[in-house]
Amino acid sequence: MRVAIFGLGYVGAVSGACFAELGHEVVGVDVSDAKIDMINRGEAPIVEEMIAELTAGAVSIGRLRATKDAAAAVRWAEVSLVSVGTPTARDGTPDLSYVDGVVRQIGEALKGADAAHTVIIRSTIPPGATERRLAPILEQAAGEKLGRRIHLAFNPEFLREGRSVRDFRQPPFTIIGALSDRAYDDVARLYAGVESEIIRTEANVAESIKLLSNAWHGLKVAFANEAGRILKSADVDSRLALNIFVKDTVLNVSPAYLRPGFSFGGSCLPKDLRAMVSIADRGGAAAPIMKAALASNEAHLDAALEAVRACGRRPAVLFGLAFKPGTDDLRESPYVALAERLIGKGYSLKIVDPYVDASRLMGKNKEFIEREIPHFVEMMARDAEDAVDDAEIIIFGHASGVDKGAILERGVGKIIIDLAGDRDLEFCGADYRSIAW
Ligand SMILES: NC(=O)c1ccc[n+]([C@@H]2O[C@H](COP(=O)([O-])OP(=O)(O)OC[C@H]3O[C@@H](n4cnc5c(N)ncnc54)[C@H](O)[C@@H]3O)[C@@H](O)[C@H]2O)c1
Repeated sequence: MRVAIFGLGYVGAVSGACFAELGHEVVGVDVSDAKIDMINRGEAPIVEEMIAELTAGAVSIGRLRATKDAAAAVRWAEVSLVSVGTPTARDGTPDLSYVDGVVRQIGEALKGADAAHTVIIRSTIPPGATERRLAPILEQAAGEKLGRRIHLAFNPEFLREGRSVRDFRQPPFTIIGALSDRAYDDVARLYAGVESEIIRTEANVAESIKLLSNAWHGLKVAFANEAGRILKSADVDSRLALNIFVKDTVLNVSPAYLRPGFSFGGSCLPKDLRAMVSIADRGGAAAPIMKAALASNEAHLDAALEAVRACGRRPAVLFGLAFKPGTDDLRESPYVALAERLIGKGYSLKIVDPYVDASRLMGKNKEFIEREIPHFVEMMARDAEDAVDDAEIIIFGHASGVDKGAILERGVGKIIIDLAGDRDLEFCGADYRSIAW
């Protein structure tokens, strides 16, 4: 394909040389004369493993060149890639002015032309920006609606500086947030030859994945460093501890616990997070992440309460009381906390959890629930169907298959507040609400 790449920084310079290696013809566009001259001399404008050889090779066989003439590059190309910078503005938001400007330039160059063209945004931008901000700019500049001749997609870049060519060749996945089928096909064609799963999704999801990934990496580094400070204060070599910690790819470094749902609880997570915080406090180690995890968990509970409050004070039924399905462990269950606060606010509440049998609760578990919700026995509904019929608000934490069936059948016309992210509930004819999706 004939490819124009706007912005010859780390992303653009690597993409240009690597797309040329894949067999495409590439022209790079930048505002920097120095970068353009370097590329045209066969020199890479950045320092990166393998990039010097790749750039020199691609330029020597005429597959890669650079220019300042944006309009000529766009008219020559079938696709334009935008990889200009999106630095942090004064107020902390990403400054999208370079992306806006380049998209406008591309649109103006396409005005009145006949050939089809796909614009691919690779710069990191906030969720919604491709569709709500850049699509209108492109349409206005080109003087026509998108989706006929001119197409638009967001395609995030996951390369790591220092090993970016290797990352380009073996990305974790190729994500295409295309606004049209043609846009999707063009981006997919561009990556033919790169072995990775291609995922088509909404543009705002694709934009989110890039931000989520970097937020997650930042969180992981900060977590490891914080863990190191805390463990050091307890005379533990954190390098040994974290080396072993990451060997658990079932629970620790895995998709486990990475699904939006309701607050965590139970007898271990909150208790052991508090233990880490106490070790940190005793040892004088700063532990803002461990503390924030507890605070964030509370904030999630508050969001659930707010969602119920927004429905008005109507009779409610809560499905799920134990901290997770299939157990009767109520200790520090977030559903107990939710129930306790709703009761405190005067809600008429019934609770359905077939695993919680009041007559069989013992020890700390019994003590806990009797302290938190003294009259909880009276609130436990015997029959899920009756409980749904009597309620106007159904709060869904977790439920057995049979009890969920009762909601699906009898929840029509009622409000469902889904704390679990259960897709079946979304289309059962209820007024479906959620707090994190
Ligand atoms: N650096 C990375 O490892 C990396 C990885 C993934 C995504 N990203 C994202 O990709 C984007 C680019 O990052 P980068 O590190 O390559 O940036 P960079 O600052 O190295 O390069 C940006 C380039 O864009 C050029 N430019 C600015 N305005 C222009 C215009 N109007 N026309 C043409 N060129 C113009 C600049 O001269 C510069 O060469 C950012 O949004 C970044 O967040 C970066």
